[in-house]
Amino acid sequence: MSNYHIKHLEEYYQVYRKSVRNPESFWEEIAEEHFLWRKKWDTVLSWDFKKPEVKWFEGAKLNITENCIDRHLATRGDKTAILFEPNDPKEAAQHITYKDLYHRVNKFANVLKAKGVTKGDRVCVYLPMIPELAVAILACARIGAIHSVVFAGFSSIALATRINDADCKMVITSDGSYRGAKSIDLKGIVDEALEDCKGVNKVLVVKRTKSEIMMKAGRDEWLQPLLDDASDELVATVMDAEDPLFILYTSGSTGMPKGMVHSTGGYLVYTAYTFKNVFQYRENDIYWCTADIGWITGHSYIVYGPLANGATTVMFEGVPSYPDYGRFWDIVEKHKITQFYTAPTAIRALAKEGVTYIDTHDLSSLKVLGTVGEPINEEAWHWYDDNVGKRKAPIVDTWWQTETGGIMITPIPFCTPTKPTYATLPFIGIQPALMDENGKEIKGDQADGRLCIKFPWPSIARTIWGNHQRYKDTYFSAYENMYFTGDGALRDEVGYYRITGRVDDVIIVSGHNLGTAPIEDAINEHPTVSESAIVGFPHDIKGNALYGYVTLKETGESRNHDNLRKEINQIITEQIGPIAKLDKIQFTNGLPKTRSGKIMRRILRKIAGKDTSNLGDTSTLLNPECVQEIMDNVL
Ligand code: WT7
Repeated sequence: MSNYHIKHLEEYYQVYRKSVRNPESFWEEIAEEHFLWRKKWDTVLSWDFKKPEVKWFEGAKLNITENCIDRHLATRGDKTAILFEPNDPKEAAQHITYKDLYHRVNKFANVLKAKGVTKGDRVCVYLPMIPELAVAILACARIGAIHSVVFAGFSSIALATRINDADCKMVITSDGSYRGAKSIDLKGIVDEALEDCKGVNKVLVVKRTKSEIMMKAGRDEWLQPLLDDASDELVATVMDAEDPLFILYTSGSTGMPKGMVHSTGGYLVYTAYTFKNVFQYRENDIYWCTADIGWITGHSYIVYGPLANGATTVMFEGVPSYPDYGRFWDIVEKHKITQFYTAPTAIRALAKEGVTYIDTHDLSSLKVLGTVGEPINEEAWHWYDDNVGKRKAPIVDTWWQTETGGIMITPIPFCTPTKPTYATLPFIGIQPALMDENGKEIKGDQADGRLCIKFPWPSIARTIWGNHQRYKDTYFSAYENMYFTGDGALRDEVGYYRITGRVDDVIIVSGHNLGTAPIEDAINEHPTVSESAIVGFPHDIKGNALYGYVTLKETGESRNHDNLRKEINQIITEQIGPIAKLDKIQFTNGLPKTRSGKIMRRILRKIAGKDTSNLGDTSTLLNPECVQEIMDNVL
């Protein structure tokens, strides 16, 4: 069982060196010893970042669900695989054992098959955080269908865009969803979306809220009766290691989201191996990641990584504030959570409530705390460390991306000494580089540059669905022979990394990755809007909030600005979802532009952040006069 579980810092360095000196033999050993393959690979790795093309374990055959479920049945059949905690604390938690999961996934997969879904078909999953969400994606994987989960907070237009881009033939959804005291009409959103999705001929509906919904004859069916009639046995479809497992969308610098494609073998190996080490997972731990399965964090570290290790993984349907801000701590105490993985925005929201809710709960089961999604500020880090972990549970600040599939830079708890706001050291096999603006690598310590990765790792996304050129342009064109992350980072004197934030047009709001372009496109649809520019500005809880600068068409009429602000946010909610709403909207006569017509967001960002000390030379702008006007009227 060599190198699968790293237990101290010396061992980390030793294994790290081995993994970068000879990546092929390192990953081959891990893959061989810890996973179930129907057939072994012919080649461990072939790659070319110029094309770009990356293949791991080519020629190997497997099914990921046999690794996540079947192989645990003999030893862990009665162990809880998924522990479901409902939105309403009065509703009982559900313990789904590995044996139950096996039968539920098989039944679901048999239903999919009976409805004509076959290997390679795309299935859109638009569900709240209920067990059926995990079961649905595993059922797709069982028969080789490619799941495309869309976060159930996205609007009908955003959903339709994603369904059409991936050309999904089926949608799996529920009647409604619960979010704290509210319930949301999910099926209504799907109905609206499907008016624009001609390729979808089947909608399977999970009953959750029991609300009145429309069922379109011939298209829509309740799931439960189909499951009741389905067999609970099914032979898993044998997949190639490089067959796509899923598509997951992430925002980019154009209006069109990018459908990141992850493949089967490498993704399994890397998510399982990182899960084991980053959370120092041991048998009988109760692991809880508070993310939604609609994001990559949920795919890799609620479903695949934990289940591949035979772990108990918690799925929470609700929100941290319902019925009150003690809910997370209720759950930690009730289920004796050992690893707790959440986002800085949640930590800040909880910290704002002080320690009243913490002091009334027993959090002594916690061994490891995690954070992900955006840079964590020092204050939040200390609050988490002092109050939640009582300085005994190390914090793993895990940096990674939808595109990377798994955790890339992180401490290994009980091995790597932590340092507030630092994601610390590259994980085993990961070779980061900091680049300067001229495309040269900055060597040595005390460096500050753009974060790239020099060598492929098993779970790197293989392409953007239907647009390989965009994959190349976005990630492999900025620096030769490197994967470019879009983030800036510092490296200190001991080689620790601190992620400083995005260097492109993506803004992270409450841990959600939002592109400025799609939001601006939405705003510009308002009939009176001429132009707009979105920037981020610092926000206590969300990390960043959105600030919009909007110019209006000359109509001669006077407009009520408050009404306009509401209308603009309404359009954004319809086109993207409430997560993309603007906190501040400033109407202005012009936006600062370069002579080639590019909006100078850097200036707008500084003004929105009330940091105008160093705006740089604005005299070369096309329209320097608008800068003063914008500063005079800043909100
Ligand atoms: C972007 C990726 C992968 C999980 C969820 C987000 C930022 C992520 C950290 C961290 C600083 C972080 C980066 C990255 N980010 N984790 N620990 N420290 N920044 O996935 O939506 O694909 O966003 O989130 O800017 O590029 P995502």
